[in-house]
Amino acid sequence: MQSFQDISLIFEEHLKSFVPFPAHQENLYEPCRYLLEAGGKRIRPALCLMAAEMFGGINKDVFHAAMAVELFHNFTLIHDDIMDKAPLRRGKPTVHAKYGLTTGILSGDIMGIYSYQCLGQVSPQYLPGIFAIFNKTAIEVCEGQQWDMDFENQDEVSIHEYLKMIELKTSVLLAASLKMGAVLAGASEEDAHNLYEFGKHMGIAFQLQDDYLDTFGTEEKIGKKPGGDIRANKKTFLMLKSRELANENALVQMDVALEQDDDEKVENVRNLFLELNIDKHSKDIINQYSTESFNYLDKINLPEEKKVYLRSLAEWLLDRQY
Ligand code: IPE
Ligand code: IPE
Ligand code: MG
Ligand code: MG
Ligand code: MG
Repeated sequence: MQSFQDISLIFEEHLKSFVPFPAHQENLYEPCRYLLEAGGKRIRPALCLMAAEMFGGINKDVFHAAMAVELFHNFTLIHDDIMDKAPLRRGKPTVHAKYGLTTGILSGDIMGIYSYQCLGQVSPQYLPGIFAIFNKTAIEVCEGQQWDMDFENQDEVSIHEYLKMIELKTSVLLAASLKMGAVLAGASEEDAHNLYEFGKHMGIAFQLQDDYLDTFGTEEKIGKKPGGDIRANKKTFLMLKSRELANENALVQMDVALEQDDDEKVENVRNLFLELNIDKHSKDIINQYSTESFNYLDKINLPEEKKVYLRSLAEWLLDRQY
């Protein structure tokens, strides 16, 4: 069994040795390499490899699936940054900011296609099952992203709707990464299901922490421009909970702040969040989802020593600063 740090190094080596993009058409492929080489935590491929290791070991198929999820994730990041008008990612200008909008669209598309090409290399006996997991997930991610965008222009969004939205846009990909690793290593259906549920609840907490960091993190640490969610009128837990807790006076202040220009808006909304102790409420709900996720990890029919690294990765992820 190996820790997240060791597993991500193994994946990084694999990524370097595997050259998915051809040498021609630099205008199309260079932006893909640029984003991949800018780093990232590599959580999804690590989850896929760690799950396989828990159940029987990493094999060639697991590497194909791990590569596919990381490419898919990077494809969604390129398009997400266009949708969110984000200037920075992984400490560098976003793909569309650096190379232009059309390149962003097309490089994102091609990365998505290469992701499927990787997945198609999985051994034939596993392919139908793996494609079923992957396709369901990819559809859900798009549905979640559409809701995320719809909610920007929707005044009434419930916390329940927000949680469903982040389950789709973010958590199912983490869950599917784990499930594919488990399935490819021969896990039982019941264990693969419980691992998926672990990942789903952990993934919801992961996106809650992402939203928290977008408002309270620093550019230096998160590699993105903080305050983007406030600027874009995202209906995050922070925003929805503050609307729930605010008295009439605070609601008026919030409405005034939301009409202000960029920097002023971000600062004033952030201060209102703090006055309402939203940071603490955010931590509470993160803990709630992480407790639930660990209940599913407990149900998996493996000795505890097989689960320790996944447990500590999840603990780190939910309290991470980047
Ligand atoms: C960012 O994901 C997008 C979300 C779903 C929150 P990560 O935080 O995993 O991004 P990288 O891959 O480490 O850059
Ligand atoms: C992104 O959510 C989810 C997907 C990319 C599918 P965010 O928009 O919050 O991710 P960041 O903060 O830009 O990384
Ligand atoms: Mg987004
Ligand atoms: Mg974004
Ligand atoms: Mg975010």
